[in-house]
Amino acid sequence: MSTTASHTAASEAQLPAKLPLPSLLEMKQAHRPIVMLTAYDAPSARLAEAAGIDILLVGDSAAMVVLGHDGTVPVTMDEMIFMTKSVSRAVRVPIVIGDLPFGSYQASDEEAVRNAVRFVKEAGTDAVKLEGAGRMLDRVRAIVDSGIPVMGHIGLTPQSATALGGYRAQGRTAETARRLYDDALALQEAGCFAIVLESVPASVATRISRALRIPTIGIGAGVGCDGQVLVYHDMLGLTQGHVARFVKRYADLSTVIREAMEAYAADVRSGAYPEDRHTYKIPAEELAAFDRSLE
Ligand code: KIV
Repeated sequence: MSTTASHTAASEAQLPAKLPLPSLLEMKQAHRPIVMLTAYDAPSARLAEAAGIDILLVGDSAAMVVLGHDGTVPVTMDEMIFMTKSVSRAVRVPIVIGDLPFGSYQASDEEAVRNAVRFVKEAGTDAVKLEGAGRMLDRVRAIVDSGIPVMGHIGLTPQSATALGGYRAQGRTAETARRLYDDALALQEAGCFAIVLESVPASVATRISRALRIPTIGIGAGVGCDGQVLVYHDMLGLTQGHVARFVKRYADLSTVIREAMEAYAADVRSGAYPEDRHTYKIPAEELAAFDRSLE
C-alpha cells in the first residue's frame, strides 16, 4: 500500500460511520430525541454534520427559502436533485433524505418509484420523504418495495396547503385528530421508517407517537414526538417576513450578514478595502520590464 493510500485509510477510519437508518428505531426506544434539520447546499450541510445533526432533509421548502417562491409547489425534481447532490457530496455521517416535490409522485406508482430512484442514484440520498396518506399509501408501498426507505409527512402538508385551507394547524377536532392517528398507523403499515408530524396539537402528536413503533419527527407538534425538525433559514433567523409560531430562532444571521455586507460596501466606497495585505506582488525587475514594454 502506498503511503498516501495508507494515510487516507487511517484518516477515514477515524471518521464516524454513516448513521444507519435502524438506529432511529433504537433512538426512539431509548427515548433519545432525533435531531433533523433541512439543508440545501454543501456549506450548510457540512456545518450541520459538524454540529452532530442526525438527519439532513433536503426539503421542498427550498422553493420558498432558497428559490424565492411563495409556496413549495413550484420546485421541480431537477432543482431538488441539483441541491441534494451538493448536500450528499458534503457529508458522510448524517442520514440524507430527499423530499419528493409536488408532481413527482402523485400521478402513479411508477412515477413515484422513478423519482425516488433518481434521488438515490443521482443525488446519493439514503431515503425519500413524501406528503400525505390515503391514496399516497400505494406510493409508499411501491417505493419501499423498490428498496428505498420512505419517511411519511402528515398534518399540515404544505404541498396541499390550498386544499387544507392555508397554512394552519391540523387535527384540532376529535374527528380530524382521529384521522391523523389512523393515517400515521396506515403509513407505518405501508412501510414508512419514520413520519413527520407538522403543525399538530402536542397532545395529539404525543398519542400518535406512543401508538407507533416507528419514530415521529415533529415540527410544530410538541415535545412528545421522537424527534424534531426545523428549517435551516428559520432557526438561523434568515427567513424574511412571517415565521410560524413553532419556530425558535437560535441566531439572527440576517442582521449579522447584512451588517457584514454594509461594512464591505462602505470599505469599497471609501477605499479601505482592499489593503496592501490583500494584494499580489510582482518582482520589481519584472514590473520595470513590463513598464518598458508599454513605452
Ligand atoms: O420541506 C421541508 O422543509 C419539510 C420540513 C418542514 C419537514 O417538509
